[in-house]
Amino acid sequence: MINDKVLDILNSQINKEFYSAYLYLSMSAYFDEIGLYGFSNWMKVQAKEEMDHGMILFDYIVERDGVVKLSLIDAPDSDFECPLQVFEKAYEHEKFVTSSINEVAHLSEDECDLATRHFINWYISEQVEEEANVLDVIKKLKLFGDECTSLYHLDKEMGERAYTQHSYKE
Ligand code: FEO
Repeated sequence: MINDKVLDILNSQINKEFYSAYLYLSMSAYFDEIGLYGFSNWMKVQAKEEMDHGMILFDYIVERDGVVKLSLIDAPDSDFECPLQVFEKAYEHEKFVTSSINEVAHLSEDECDLATRHFINWYISEQVEEEANVLDVIKKLKLFGDECTSLYHLDKEMGERAYTQHSYKE
């Protein structure tokens, strides 16, 4: 079983993960619009991973005999100016998600829900990777700028990102 406070914060985290998928799909649409299809692929892979993050929480709640409550997903930002700005927004978003995962960790500790406290460690590690992946692209964009040839090569590299399903019990 799982107490109401922990259940609420986990359900709220599901919403944030699916919002993240929406946000990355919105970013993907921007890259499609400007013809950077490799960047768009990177974002689509990211969106799929976010859906995995949401589903892992979903399955965990069910496993603990809790009730999953899905709530309205906000419309994502779609006001983008250039690739660097998109990734800077993605980085800000990932920092926000990291802080909300930390809140889950703190609350589960306060509520003596050690199973959830243990479970959320997977997300704590995942967030380190999430922030680093976005930061890596920001550094490259800052180094090479928006110069056409380098953007072309970077787009090819971004196109190689492949999706592999994320699983908690791997
Ligand atoms: Fe599920 Fe990108 O955080």
